[in-house]
Amino acid sequence: MIGAVLGLQFGDEGKGKITDFLSSRFQVSVRFNGGGNAGHTVVANGKKFKFHLIPSGSLRCETVVLGNGMVIDPHALVEEMENLRKSGCTSRILISKMAHVVTPMHKVLDMKEETVRSKLSIGTTAQGIGPTYEDKYARTGIRMVDLLSPDIIEQKIETIYRMKESLLKDTEYSDPARRHSMAGELNKVGVSLMPFMEYTELEIFRQYKAGKSILFEGAQGTMLDIDFGMYPFVTSSNALAGALSLGSGFPFRKVDYVLGVAKAYMSRVGSGPFPTELQGDAGNQLRELGHEYGTTTGRPRRVGWLDIPMLRYSIMMNDVDALAITRLDTLGLMDNIRVCTRYMKDGQEIDYVPRSFDELSQIELEYIDIKPWGAVKASDGGYSYQSLPEEMHRYINLIEERLGIPVDVISLGEGRENTLVREGSRLRNLEEVQQEHDRTL
Ligand code: IMP
Repeated sequence: MIGAVLGLQFGDEGKGKITDFLSSRFQVSVRFNGGGNAGHTVVANGKKFKFHLIPSGSLRCETVVLGNGMVIDPHALVEEMENLRKSGCTSRILISKMAHVVTPMHKVLDMKEETVRSKLSIGTTAQGIGPTYEDKYARTGIRMVDLLSPDIIEQKIETIYRMKESLLKDTEYSDPARRHSMAGELNKVGVSLMPFMEYTELEIFRQYKAGKSILFEGAQGTMLDIDFGMYPFVTSSNALAGALSLGSGFPFRKVDYVLGVAKAYMSRVGSGPFPTELQGDAGNQLRELGHEYGTTTGRPRRVGWLDIPMLRYSIMMNDVDALAITRLDTLGLMDNIRVCTRYMKDGQEIDYVPRSFDELSQIELEYIDIKPWGAVKASDGGYSYQSLPEEMHRYINLIEERLGIPVDVISLGEGRENTLVREGSRLRNLEEVQQEHDRTL
């Protein structure tokens, strides 16, 4: 089976946990966008793992791939790989030779650009993501394979420096000796990563032909997509399902199953519109109950109620087959629960998510109240859907009715064991999906 796990909101939906949970059913896991801006937390066997670059499937998949669509800080990657090995994980790691390299200079550029943006600052993760993608599209970027050649690294660093000198002139990188030493460090780390570098698009296809199941793991979320998100308060890559093809080379027509991950409420880090944002005491209560602080930056996340119109849009844009709803345990503990069901403008429902800030300020949101369901406990044999509180059923039914797709996965805590796959769902009937997949081979 070829599956994809994607975030449908502003990132931090719990994709890491869901991917890790699903990874027992897959042999290969592939990342195709973003870089160290992503922060995926996985709790396995009582231990917490934090990934930024390595796919979250790495604890259980045979092979994990960092695709060409990613931007990679090679020093950070070496550190993550070492941590993974220390945890006893033996999966094979493959890095695309065509992925772009984030250098320490890009991280400085990220902060400088934020200062220049002033009131329009995005609140980036300061991981050098934007400037690295800028260089990719300016055709001056450094690719992983370039790290093997000291001359090419030096030439590219000089070009990038000259293009961005106005931002870099009062930093350590204005010193040619510092640029030279950075090139040397990048070459050294590049050589150490050489055994892992591949034309990964070929290897993914080989795995596909060998009948392996492959899971594509999106970073960030639809509303942070550079084209379809809340521009300019977005990341610099595409985070939609379509991006998995371009960011890995794998043909999009072969994907069997797209699982969209949504939190039972919403959160966002950084600036930009957030229609259902909760301020005041309720916002603080939700943030504290959910420990909503960024995995990458530690920043407090903004929080809000579930936004059905926005989810409907994300489902359409990603051709989502089914939903995984996370954090239902957290939401149930709130004093009251609301869900936004409609966007209204001039008394009429609108069926799109406005992107102009003027229009966004004119919409009114309609909400439905749901009775909180309190704490949820697993019974001895794990969870069964029937034993979950009735109010939670109501919430899930509402989501399914309004969105027209099933909730296949329910997440009730951070561990693998706090996860329920619904009976009758396609995930439960994996053999069927696998047969469908085999027929197309
Ligand atoms: P950048 O990707 O670091 O350039 O940040 C751009 C925007 O995307 C900022 O609002 C970040 O907070 C947000 N962002 C980037 N990656 C993630 C993520 O993995 N989760 C949540 N927000 C993210």
